[in-house]
Amino acid sequence: MEPTRIGVLISGGGTNLQAIIDNIKNGNINGRIELIISNKKDAYGLIRGKKANIDTLYLDRKQFNSEEEYNLELIKKFKEKNVDLVVLAGYLRVLSKDFIEAFRGRIINIHPSLIPSFCGKGFYGEKVHKAVLDYGVKITGATVHFVDEGTDTGPIILQEAVEVEDTDTLETLKEKVLRVEHKILVQAVKLYCQNRLSIEGRKVIIK
Ligand code: GRF
Repeated sequence: MEPTRIGVLISGGGTNLQAIIDNIKNGNINGRIELIISNKKDAYGLIRGKKANIDTLYLDRKQFNSEEEYNLELIKKFKEKNVDLVVLAGYLRVLSKDFIEAFRGRIINIHPSLIPSFCGKGFYGEKVHKAVLDYGVKITGATVHFVDEGTDTGPIILQEAVEVEDTDTLETLKEKVLRVEHKILVQAVKLYCQNRLSIEGRKVIIK
């Protein structure tokens, strides 16, 4: 089967991106990352892409008059590379309706909690883990889902739980969850590339 053409959006360190790069390289994922775009100039994920000889692009939001125009450029860049699957790997901007429409059912996001807990507006990165610790839940985890018009509301592909221990700090919890993120994001991208995911209403069926 032809490798799936993948576009990745990042804003930070890119450890989730690296997990995908590594699993393409070792043959676990039947895909090819065509382009990595960051909205942050100093995102280390751009370095990771360059080291893997993958096309990378920093797209400065300030060069555009609106979120809509910025997203139209994102669409254009990915379409130019015939990208099929878009992966949000620590991407912190909201996608426009145009973008969602252009790639409907073909955008995957990784979130560091068990959706629908600790998600939605303002819940990203360490803010999620702080809210988890402050609330005192015993179980958190990570979720991979398809992206729709909402924030962290699309159909769920995979989830995995992580135990919150009394001794956990923001750092230890973040590390534990990040390891699970890498694992389930790779698995979800692999399944997509094997054409084994189908969306039925709110449910994702794994064939
Ligand atoms: C992580 O907290 C992850 O949960 C979220 O973005 C953050 C950075 O991930 N998706 P990465 O190391 O940039 O992939």
